[in-house]
Amino acid sequence: MTYEQFYGNDYKKLKDAQNTLRSMIQKLQADTDPNEDLQPIVYCCSRIKKPDSMMRKLETRGFPPTAGSALTNVYDAVGIRIICSFASDVFNIVEKLEKEPLIEILEKKDYLSHPKPNGYRSIHLCIRLRDTGIPAEIQIRTIAMDFWATLEHQLKYKKNIANETLIKSELKRCADEIASVDLSMQTIREIIKEL
Ligand code: GTP
Ligand code: MG
Repeated sequence: MTYEQFYGNDYKKLKDAQNTLRSMIQKLQADTDPNEDLQPIVYCCSRIKKPDSMMRKLETRGFPPTAGSALTNVYDAVGIRIICSFASDVFNIVEKLEKEPLIEILEKKDYLSHPKPNGYRSIHLCIRLRDTGIPAEIQIRTIAMDFWATLEHQLKYKKNIANETLIKSELKRCADEIASVDLSMQTIREIIKEL
């Protein structure tokens, strides 16, 4: 099924929302202090959730697998990911997004201050565009956390995993090491800034 077949007339609204959010984020980047040595956002990516994946998610949650349902029962038909160098940038960007007049924050999940048991770290903002009411999920994390999440995500598609316990505990160990390296990098950055 194509995007247009599933989302119908809402597909254009979703694309518009995606574009609005992308340019809003570009402006956040442009508005940062030009004296700042490093830009807070390294890159940003976005997607409209694939029809198959959206239908699966809605059905699992007991909602009708329709476009209307995708826009009212879940937040992530539009998904935006913002990748920063440092954890401090992640918190700064979240603070800026919370003050952004174009969007209303519906829910904030801070898996950075409170990592998931598997080691997942990221901050998620479920938002709604004030003008059109289109919801979106914005994930903000560091390059290192994103590297980890990409690899860990591969596990979700595997069945009957040999050594599952070992793999999961190694992933958890890496997540914690990454958090520690992120922190050290931030400290070194501060030291270099003062030189
Ligand atoms: P879904 O997981 O999308 O059904 O929504 P949810 O209500 O559980 O929200 P949550 O904010 O926990 O997760 C939303 C999205 O964040 C997921 O679709 C993934 O992209 C990402 N995510 C959340 N938890 C993990 C995780 O443990 N590992 C990885 N790799 N990604 C995660
Ligand atoms: Mg989840």
